[in-house]
Amino acid sequence: MRLPLPRNPGRYSVALVCLGNICRSPMAQVVLERRVAAAGLDDRVTVRSAGTGDWHVGQPMDSRAAAKLSAAGYDPSSHRARQYDDSWVDDHDLVLAMDHANLAAVGGRSERVAMFGDHDPLEPGGEVADPYYGGEDGFADVLAKVERTSDALVDELSALLSSGSYA
Ligand code: 4NP
Repeated sequence: MRLPLPRNPGRYSVALVCLGNICRSPMAQVVLERRVAAAGLDDRVTVRSAGTGDWHVGQPMDSRAAAKLSAAGYDPSSHRARQYDDSWVDDHDLVLAMDHANLAAVGGRSERVAMFGDHDPLEPGGEVADPYYGGEDGFADVLAKVERTSDALVDELSALLSSGSYA
């Protein structure tokens, strides 16, 4: 899945969007930031996350999401929930929605708006299912999906940012 070209050559900003910004998109942000740093791209790639709803603004990650990340060796502690607003699509190179309702809330597909799951190498095109009202399995599923999808996204970002025409 090709990424849109960066607005500023050699740099890239990604926004991850879910509903509450306390489960899916912050889990994906923490994982993707780790992968970006491991690839040596952390001075060039920015990852942010937001929720389309405002209920949890300012709150830390859901405790179940945080526990799942901590158990896997990630640090969830710095997250504070933010609400998406329409300026984000102009401020980022790529906006990735976790499910179809989130996608609709950010205005639908465009050159710079897609589904996070489009980049899932195992089940491309799918949603990251909302784990909020479910059990522990849902959070494990989110982590597995965001880990493999973040691996693929970082490969794509590395290729884009290291290619001569864009670097
Ligand atoms: P998220 O999960 O969108 O993955 O952060 C949710 C968090 C909160 C709610 C729904 C989903 N809520 O209804 O408060």
